[in-house]
Amino acid sequence: MAIKLETRIAVLCGGLSSEREVSLRSGKNCLAALIRLGYSKAILIDMGHDIAQQLTTQGIEFAFLALHGKYGEDGCIQGLLEILNIPYTGNGVMASALTMDKDVTKRLLKEAGLPVIPSVTLYKTGDRPSQLQQLETLHFPVMVKPNSEGSSIGMSKVSSLAEVDQALDEAFGYANKVLVEEFIAGESITVGVILKEGQHVTTPILAFRTKTDWYDLEAKYTAGMTEFILPAPFSDSLTHAIQETTLKAHNIAGCYGVSRIDFVVLDQDRYYILEINTIPGMTDLSDLPAQAAAMGIGYDELVQLILRSGDTTR
Ligand SMILES: Nc1ncnc2c1ncn2[C@@H]1O[C@H](COP(=O)(O)OP(=O)(O)O)[C@@H](O)[C@H]1O
Ligand SMILES: [Mg+2]
Repeated sequence: MAIKLETRIAVLCGGLSSEREVSLRSGKNCLAALIRLGYSKAILIDMGHDIAQQLTTQGIEFAFLALHGKYGEDGCIQGLLEILNIPYTGNGVMASALTMDKDVTKRLLKEAGLPVIPSVTLYKTGDRPSQLQQLETLHFPVMVKPNSEGSSIGMSKVSSLAEVDQALDEAFGYANKVLVEEFIAGESITVGVILKEGQHVTTPILAFRTKTDWYDLEAKYTAGMTEFILPAPFSDSLTHAIQETTLKAHNIAGCYGVSRIDFVVLDQDRYYILEINTIPGMTDLSDLPAQAAAMGIGYDELVQLILRSGDTTR
């Protein structure tokens, strides 16, 4: 479908995940940009269980996805939109579902020769003593994280096997699958991918220097806790290598239109992919808009590029 200024576009946001509040802010900003761009019939829909009915009764012809987390970023809404024959922005069902699972994503990237951190995957139904035994192969400290949450929720850094029990209880409160991953004492960074003139291109690298030990919930959502360095002060060769790896990971996961890939960088030669985000935040303070701005792409232009990724006649 060719998107026209009079197309009935719905910005889908809010939704039913733990990242609802951020998504509402992303959605409102994207809608304001679409209106400024002249898409006069664009509206906002806060996604609930009645979303199929909402889309149908409001005659929605195109969906701009500003949802994060469960049901929004995991292939569910994408599948529903496919069935309803409503085109949408960004990643399809498969890439969305796949990248929501950090463990499966890491296995796929590892098989393709891309750098990921050694980890063990544990299941809620598993027997705790044998789970703890499996962790003996890992070097401590480790990061214990729910396999499919965002915003650093349910995650903890653990320095010895004795402390793992509690961290596992916490993480299993959020997911049936938990990753126990070696902790890399490096720099946390993220790289965006956008679709420009039919080509996927990477943004400059954004580095986070936090007052906390790692980029946790507190650092993410408390003003002044994190210093953002854009572009990250890496050598040209390291920057280039990370950007190449980003594009490879984006393609291997089958991503399309937009993504933001998180890494930890240890030194000049060692960097590791943590995860792939398929619907990056679009608030005033979000990473992707800042990264786009650093390459001369303003917020409205970024929204236009994301919108175009859903144009099926492109
Ligand atoms: N293995 C690790 N070693 C060091 N830091 C980590 C590790 N895993 C996660 N982190 C830190 O936690 C942050 C969030 O982790 P991430 O895997 O991206 O999950 P989320 O989905 O919550 O963003 C990262 O940006 C990084 O700062
Ligand atoms: Mg992340």
